[in-house]
Amino acid sequence: MASIVFLILAIVLSFRTSGATSRGGLFEASAAVEKHEQWMARFHRAYSDVSEKTNRFEIFKKNLEFVEKFNMNANRTYKLDVNEFSDLTDEEFRARYMGLVVPKEMTEMSSTETVSFRYENVSESETGESMDWRQEGAVTTVKNQGKCGCCWAFSAVAAVEGITKITKGELVSLSEQQLLDCTSDNHGCDGGTLSKAFQYIINNQGITTEDNYPYQAEQQICASTTGSVAATISGFARVPRNDEEALLKTVSQQPVSVAIDASYAFKQYSGGVFDGECGTQLNHAVTIIGYGTSEEGTKYWLAKNSWGESWGENGYMRIKRDVTDPQGMCGLAILALYPLA
Ligand SMILES: *[C@@H]1O[C@H](CO)[C@@H](O)[C@H](O)[C@H]1NC(C)=O
Ligand SMILES: *[C@@H]1O[C@H](CO)[C@@H](O)[C@H](O)[C@H]1NC(C)=O
Repeated sequence: MASIVFLILAIVLSFRTSGATSRGGLFEASAAVEKHEQWMARFHRAYSDVSEKTNRFEIFKKNLEFVEKFNMNANRTYKLDVNEFSDLTDEEFRARYMGLVVPKEMTEMSSTETVSFRYENVSESETGESMDWRQEGAVTTVKNQGKCGCCWAFSAVAAVEGITKITKGELVSLSEQQLLDCTSDNHGCDGGTLSKAFQYIINNQGITTEDNYPYQAEQQICASTTGSVAATISGFARVPRNDEEALLKTVSQQPVSVAIDASYAFKQYSGGVFDGECGTQLNHAVTIIGYGTSEEGTKYWLAKNSWGESWGENGYMRIKRDVTDPQGMCGLAILALYPLA
């Protein structure tokens, strides 16, 4: 039955695209309604009443149109698709699923800054053509921050999981919830800074495991973790800003937390090498866990996100590397931090 409906829908759609633009509006509206229903079933979405459904449908339709229009340009190196975020406006999405606060002094150039970069002498033969820390067993499975703007905790934890595996030989999934609850001068689900997350782990003399202190997607009272430390760091450092080569050297040695502008198209990215529709307003944090070159010859960074596995390439994004803007694609080279073992 469902397949017959789908077949009819497919025929209607193919008629629509083969011309008849004067009738297009009506067909378009009913196709969008149908797609919204299918989407609701796929993502188990239920709305409280008709007015909410109507409201959400309008937002869904806008997102759907954005995706379809975007994908019509065959020259793009990446694709978009509707996903679990497609009934949210950009503003709602930003408030719930991002959550990076960047201290002002982090984005301003300071002339007095003394740069001591520990990976400055990493050679080209060491960085090589590609790197994927997943293949080295230094990356845990993709996590999901849910409706809580604490990307900062997920980004920092992934970097600490990486350096811990590299230096201690063991991959352990660590607790974002501990950072969310205990990093007192951050703002929990309303956003936080990466540096404070690392500083907490240093001050607390470690962080416990995900299993010990599981994720709740809301801020709660800081629980005691005495005696259950799973990883420690001695400090953290900043990759020289606006320098993708320095970032490459660093990522060749360990996963790195980066701030990024995840506005607009980012939300519905579904695959390929992302190369646009973003600015440099840093509002999200991810972890760069590798780099390479696509079959089409485009250089990319490999980013681990915290929006579950249904987003992007199983939760990951390939994003363009070595762009002309020294700030990097979506500003990813402006603020990059890595923990020290
Ligand atoms: C795609 O690229 C080709 C070749 O560079 C160009 O002629 C064409 O206008 C582009 N199409 C779009 C939609 O940008
Ligand atoms: C890099 O090499 C130079 C020259 O040998 C040396 O002076 C510098 O200390 C090295 N940097 C690091 C971080 O090891």
